[in-house]
Amino acid sequence: MIESRWWHPVAAAQDLREQPLGVRVLGRELVLWRDRAERVHAFDDRCPHRGAKLSLGRVHGQELQCGYHGWRFDTAGRCTAIPALVGFEPPASSAVGRHAVASAHGMLWVGLDGVQAAPHRLAGVPAREVVCGPFDVGTAAPRVVENFLDMAHFGFVHEGFLGDRLRAEVPDYEVTLSHDGRPLAPHYRAWQPQASATAGEGAWVDYRYEVLSPFAALLHKCAQDSARAPAEAYALWCCPTDEECTRVWFTLFTSDTATPDDALRTFQQAIFAQDRPIIESQRPRRLPLAGGEAASAAALLSAAYRRYLKEMGISYGVC
Ligand code: FES
Ligand SMILES: [Fe+2]
Repeated sequence: MIESRWWHPVAAAQDLREQPLGVRVLGRELVLWRDRAERVHAFDDRCPHRGAKLSLGRVHGQELQCGYHGWRFDTAGRCTAIPALVGFEPPASSAVGRHAVASAHGMLWVGLDGVQAAPHRLAGVPAREVVCGPFDVGTAAPRVVENFLDMAHFGFVHEGFLGDRLRAEVPDYEVTLSHDGRPLAPHYRAWQPQASATAGEGAWVDYRYEVLSPFAALLHKCAQDSARAPAEAYALWCCPTDEECTRVWFTLFTSDTATPDDALRTFQQAIFAQDRPIIESQRPRRLPLAGGEAASAAALLSAAYRRYLKEMGISYGVC
């Protein structure tokens, strides 16, 4: 499966503490754990002894210990001790599978099968990063990404915040492709009654949309009166936990240094709570690349995203 060759976001870095953390990606269960030196490791969340979840165990210095019979595994996944057999040297076959892990933009990422390159590292975004989420959503990851790229819903789903139903028209905009074929909408202008957590009044806001990968996208927002509004960018990170279930985070990048993290998160949570029932109601839950939905000239960016998924050979979460 081509999707398993990319990096996937699996947890906010701040959510992994002393306890091992079970996560799910592409229907596979993994356990994340931090060793004493704060390095993060990702193993299959299944003990090779009797199949118990290692995420129910605990960290023991530089080792992860299963909670069932106490077998211990080092950072390479090798079994180092079997408490019931004192002095026994466990064979190599008692090892647990491990995966590549990386950290970027407040998130922990895993690479499953021979992952290439590195996870997203964004340039040109404001320095302050605030991670919001996770949000578990009962739909396929491409549905969540397409909603993030959709301009025509602001006046209806986010009325009073990101749009106004009396000003629902989507002005013309252009879609281009990055050098590696990712869709971009470099200039999109929208009227927004309350564009951000700190916006006190309506404003024209310039948007720049960019698809980062099949399951991630970035949005830059710049109010026309930029002297009074902070520069902001939002990254959408979707983890396809299963074909029709997605775990979602946002990293908010902002030049606002005054508003507390929680106030920024509350705004983003409120906006996403408006999107969620709509995107969970869409049928089919998988994004229909083969057709069957009515096209709209206002959805150029969606159309480009769908073409991009086809070209990338995506088969997970689409139909
Ligand atoms: S199942 Fe893990 S030690 Fe027995
Ligand atoms: Fe929305």
